[in-house]
Order: sequence, then structure tokens, then C-alpha cells
Amino acid sequence: MTAISLAGVSQVFGKGTAKVQALTDVNFEAEAGTMTLVMGPSGSGKSTFLTIAGGLLTPTSGEVTVDGTTYSDRTKKERDALRLDAIGFVLQAYHLLPYLTVADQFKLVDKVKPEGNLSKDDLDRILDTLGIEDLVNKYPDELSGGQQQRVAIARALYPDPAIILADEPTAALDSERVAVVGQLLKSLAVDHNKAVVVVTHDVRLVDFADRMYEIRDGQMTLK
Ligand SMILES: Nc1ncnc2c1ncn2[C@@H]1O[C@H](COP(=O)(O)OP(=O)(O)O)[C@@H](O)[C@H]1O
Ligand SMILES: [Mg+2]
Repeated sequence: MTAISLAGVSQVFGKGTAKVQALTDVNFEAEAGTMTLVMGPSGSGKSTFLTIAGGLLTPTSGEVTVDGTTYSDRTKKERDALRLDAIGFVLQAYHLLPYLTVADQFKLVDKVKPEGNLSKDDLDRILDTLGIEDLVNKYPDELSGGQQQRVAIARALYPDPAIILADEPTAALDSERVAVVGQLLKSLAVDHNKAVVVVTHDVRLVDFADRMYEIRDGQMTLK
């Protein structure tokens, strides 16, 4: 089943001489049960693409469809609900709250979305897999970049979303951790039937992808 698709999506930032065409006529599809990689260099439009795919940004033109309904056919309230329920973001800036311990970052999710989150056992397993089980009482500024990145990944997975959108999730990780994260994302797709979409320039993730797109100067092609 197609979990998320973009049809003819273009994005223009700014006006006049400051105008940037970040995406041009992007067509994209990601299926449940697969891991899709979007590879492209810095500045090629990866974050813009992911932000639009997740409904955080409405594109200049084109349609985004999630679970069979286009965003434009939903009210803002419906879009927000969908995002909360169905989409897990691993964003480039890790967006951990500085005044909360790792454990409390998850409790905060419980406040916003009280139901349907991972059980304690499942969360513990993921913390363990990511090697961050001993960090639960630490604050973000006590963690390395790589540790923060892994906490951000765990937090995105905690609400058990059907779609996982990850922006350069391995940028701060050594090769061993990249393999762990690649494996984890792949297993969420294959074993848990999620649609996993990763945008990156990290070629170390290529082996984990079921499907690969390339993005250059805002133009997307299926490889
Ligand atoms: N909010 C914005 N305002 C103006 N230009 C932007 C904005 N966001 C991104 N851009 C521009 O769009 C292009 C693509 O950026 P981005 O999607 O961040 O690429 P990537 O994630 O691949 O590095 C770049 O030229 C960037 O400067
Ligand atoms: Mg980016």
C-alpha cells in the first residue's frame, strides 16, 4: 500500500532576486513495509522535501497524499491530528527539549498523545538497541551529538507511527552506529510494516534501502 506520495510538487522560497526554486515537479511514492532512501548532496532540497511530505510545510504547488487522502482535502486540524498519529519525524536539529531528561522527553509524548505509544518493554528494547538505555536520566547537553541523535530517533519511534520520516539520521554517528540505525529502520519497515523514508547524503545507508531516489537541485529521480 502506498503510505505517502507526492505528485508534481514544487517549492519556491522568496521573491525576485532572492527567489530559490527548492523543488521542481517532484513525484515520489513510499510503500508500507519498505525503506525508501532519498540521496542528495547538501542544498539539493532534501529537508524541504521531507518537511512537505510530513505536512509541516504546504508546497507552492502539487499534492501530498497520506493514507489515501491529500493534505489539501483536510483541514489544518485534521492535518495536525494525522501528523501526530501517523508520522514520526527524526529532524536534523534533534529538537530535544533542553530542560527535560531523556526519560521525560518520552513522558512529554505521553502528555501530547496519551494512547497508542510503545509499551515500556518495546521502548526499552529500542533504547537498548540504540545503546542509550543508560542515558535516561541525563539532560540533552550532557549527551554527545551522536547520543542526542539516537535519543531523537527513539523519540520519533515511541508513538509507533505508520510513517517514519528521517532527515540525515546518521549524520553524527560512526559506522558501527550507522549499521545499527540502518538495521533498526529497516526492521521497522520489514517486520512492522512501516513506511520508512530517509533523506541523506550518507552512502553507508544505501545497503538498507529497498528503493532509492536521487535528488539534485530539487529534481527527484527514481534509481
Ligand atoms: N525557508 C527557506 N527560505 C529560503 N530558502 C530556503 C529555505 N529552506 C531551504 N531553502 C533553500 O532551498 C534549497 C534546498 O534546501 P534544503 O531543502 O535545506 O536542502 P538539503 O536538506 O538537501 O540540504 C537551498 O538552496 C536552501 O538554501
Ligand atoms: Mg537538510
